[in-house]
Amino acid sequence: MERVELCTVEELMAALYACRGAWDTPDRSGDPVDLHDHALQTAALLRRSRPSDKELQVAGLVHDLGHLLSPGDDAGHADRAAEAVRGLLGERVARLVRLHVPAKRYLAAVEPGRGLSAQSSLTLGAQGGPMTAREVASFEADPLAEDAVTLRQADDAGKVVGLDAGSMEDWRAVVELVAQGVPVR
Ligand SMILES: [Fe+2]
Ligand SMILES: [Fe+2]
Repeated sequence: MERVELCTVEELMAALYACRGAWDTPDRSGDPVDLHDHALQTAALLRRSRPSDKELQVAGLVHDLGHLLSPGDDAGHADRAAEAVRGLLGERVARLVRLHVPAKRYLAAVEPGRGLSAQSSLTLGAQGGPMTAREVASFEADPLAEDAVTLRQADDAGKVVGLDAGSMEDWRAVVELVAQGVPVR
């Protein structure tokens, strides 16, 4: 499959704007908010819980761009988005983006009763199901595990129809800071 890289802040913002009216499933059978609102809600929740960690917030903003770049590829969408932003936003943001699916599989293993959206439950199987005990241990050994779980919790909560989470333009300056590699956490 073709590799897509978002090389400039302008290209990244254009992709985020293109999420308006784009969905996690091409037939709209999935989550009830479009990728644009989901990105804004996820990032806003992280801004509230981790106000100083701009990288984590931006990771939340871009985490599902894989659905836009490669529609229908649930299993690969996290890797796709991570590849697309690594050069621009750096390794930590890319890893946090990539980890949003493993973090779901992790939480499904350690908190099996946790509520997921119907669509997230459906795709969990295609993404490998709950982690095995060995996978859990390896995930917990990752220095980014806790941040990845925080992102995942915001991801799961950021699916509220009609909730106004601000404007995409408000994020441009934050994205620029992260892209410049200014220490922002
Ligand atoms: Fe996702
Ligand atoms: Fe998501």
